Amino acid sequence: MFSSGYLANLGAIAALVGQRDLVLSDEFNHSSLKNGAILSKATVLEYAHCDLVDLQTKLAQQHDRFRRCLIITDSVFSMDGDLCPLPELLNLAEQFGCMVLVDEAHATGVLGETGAGCVEHWGCTGRSLVQVGTLSKALGSLGGYVTGSAELIDFLRNRSPGWIYTTGLSPSDTAAALEAIAILQQEPGRRQQLWQNVGQLQQQVRDCLNQAAFSNCFKLIPSESPILCLQVADAERAIAIGQLLHERGVFVAAVRPPTVPTSRIRITLMATHQPIHIHQLTAALTLAAKL
Ligand SMILES: Cc1ncc(COP(=O)(O)O)c(C=O)c1O
Repeated sequence: MFSSGYLANLGAIAALVGQRDLVLSDEFNHSSLKNGAILSKATVLEYAHCDLVDLQTKLAQQHDRFRRCLIITDSVFSMDGDLCPLPELLNLAEQFGCMVLVDEAHATGVLGETGAGCVEHWGCTGRSLVQVGTLSKALGSLGGYVTGSAELIDFLRNRSPGWIYTTGLSPSDTAAALEAIAILQQEPGRRQQLWQNVGQLQQQVRDCLNQAAFSNCFKLIPSESPILCLQVADAERAIAIGQLLHERGVFVAAVRPPTVPTSRIRITLMATHQPIHIHQLTAALTLAAKL
């Protein structure tokens, strides 16, 4: 356990690789993965988003020149909502003898039969990888985790300053996270409800996209998670739409460059949302499309 998910990524990446090593990083990775790679002092190469051909090309050209190679990726991409192609990525890693670190921040509690994350969702449990996550999203607490072999955990306990030289989780955050995990295990209905909400919103947005004003304003970014993004023309429009939605009681983020390449409205669904909330959202979006 680390004090946050951000620190877990910094701590794990900087411990696993150093100056003589190579990090291959998806171009849309979260800031904590990117900064972990910089902190490690390894050579960092970005590959095109979820592009296995680009990754393979870079591995074939580069991996012989370095001592170790680490591939780092979000499992659910935080600003798009799509999933990394984990099974194929692990096959490539095996072929080239690379390590893989996957950040499950938005997958923990959400994906997989028991809510264990994207690794479980893709049937990759038990394969050789480093799984990082946070207690701060679906679990509603604070803290980050790294899981892997006992050897890996022992190594991190000895090599990760972000774990050794800072205060551990507070008892209250720990208790809250443990309770959240118990709820996750005992009440799978919450996860089913969440995915039902995702299906409903996807369907309603697709219906709205049949209207000219809506499809002129919004472009649906493909998503396989409760994060759903609607791309808009520019930052000003994103802010104006965000404000209008806020005034109508809908809290969404207007995300703009340089955080993301294109401006967008980022919607995050919860298990506790009800059909009326989803309807309220699409009604507000329909209105915003006419701005
Ligand atoms: C993909 C991803 N990884 C890591 C983090 C950092 O987690 P934490 O908030 O626990 O520091 C976040 C966001 O908070 C995130 O979206």
